[in-house]
This record gives sequence, structure tokens and C-alpha cells, in this order.
Amino acid sequence: MNIRNLFKKIFLAISAIFLTANTTLAQTNPEQNMANKKILVAYYSWSGNTKEVAEAIHEKVGGDIYRIETEQTYPEEYRATTAQAKREINEGFRPTLKGKVNNISQYDIIFLGSPNWWGTIAPAVSTFLADNNLSGKTIIPFITHGGGGEQNTITDLTAQCSGCNVSKDGWVGYQSRTFGISGWIKDLNLK
Ligand SMILES: Cc1cc2nc3c(=O)[nH]c(=O)nc-3n(C[C@H](O)[C@H](O)[C@H](O)COP(=O)(O)O)c2cc1C
Repeated sequence: MNIRNLFKKIFLAISAIFLTANTTLAQTNPEQNMANKKILVAYYSWSGNTKEVAEAIHEKVGGDIYRIETEQTYPEEYRATTAQAKREINEGFRPTLKGKVNNISQYDIIFLGSPNWWGTIAPAVSTFLADNNLSGKTIIPFITHGGGGEQNTITDLTAQCSGCNVSKDGWVGYQSRTFGISGWIKDLNLK
């Protein structure tokens, strides 16, 4: 074997090692594993925080993203909105939603986001759960709050999602915090 052929062989052997290593990495990366599942990130957001978190999740997991919107918008003013929300939650009011997700049955995993409103999920998210049959799907809640934390948000969401497989490891973050999202998604270990 001449020296040229020897170098060629060494080069090929090294390339093969790198290729194998890369494939192994791809197989163990949870973000890659999720690629064979159909994912939807659906969220309601009044002042933009849950939207920011939803977008950060979507950037990591891919799939589709959908903003839940009410037909009648809430007042611009914070206090007026909190007053209206309080009435709605006390009365179990379900606002009518604008539009709907196209063919929701196609999704295996749904990341579902809501702000904490008076210790529970926003009424729009309750309507979303009532309007869509999510039975058998994996639901991963994500909640944003203004200091109260999780409160009853995830337990109420779970109770309103009949037949769903709701993850107990939802995201609960202050306002629009996204720091730690990557690690949270990896720990979900979705396959
Ligand atoms: C109507 C209303 C009720 C709220 N109630 C609570 C609450 O009970 N506990 C809490 O920690 N934050 C509460 N907040 C603050 C929001 O949960 C927080 O700002 C959230 O990140 C807003 O999300 P958004 O920007 O996507 O609407 C409330 C906000 C509004 C508008």
C-alpha cells in the first residue's frame, strides 16, 4: 500500500467514526425523539407573557402553534379585566372562542398554556378544553403567573380535560420567564 492509499484509509476511518458518533447523538437527543410525534403548542395570553413562553417552547419542540382567542375581547385596562375575569370564573362562564384548531385529532402531544387568573386557568382555556376532544392525548400544561405560582391552575386544567394524559411536570413560571425551558423540555423525556 502506498502512502497515499494509507492516508485515504485513515481519512475514511476517521469520517466513519464521526458519522457514527453523530447518529448516536441524534438518537439520544429528546428534541429529536419528539420529531416522530405530532406536536401542538396552544395557548391563551391576555398581556403577552404566555405568548412569549409558548413561542420559546415552540422554538424547541417544533410542530404547530395556535393562539386561543375569545370572540369578545377583554377591556384594555388591567383592573377592569381582573374584575370581569373574577365574575366569569365565579359564574363558570365559558367565553366563545374565535376560530378553532384545524383537525386537532392529528396531534399526539399538546402543550397547553394559560396565565394564572384568580388561582385558576383563564376562562378561554376552559372553553378550549370543553370545545375540543383531547381524550387520549398527552397534555403538557404551561402556566405563567404574577407571583401566586401554580395555585389550582394545573389541577383545574386536569379536571377539565377528560380522558387526557396530563403531565404532572408542567411549566410554572413568573410572568414571561423562559430561563430553564430547555432543561424542562429535556426532563419531560418525551418519546
Ligand atoms: C384577570 C387576571 C387575574 C390574575 N390573577 C392572578 C392570580 O390569581 N395569581 C397570580 O399569580 N397572577 C395573577 N395574574 C397575573 C398573571 O397571571 C400574569 O401576569 C401572567 O403572566 C399573564 O399572562 P399573559 O400576559 O399571557 O396574559 C392575573 C392577571 C389577570 C389579568
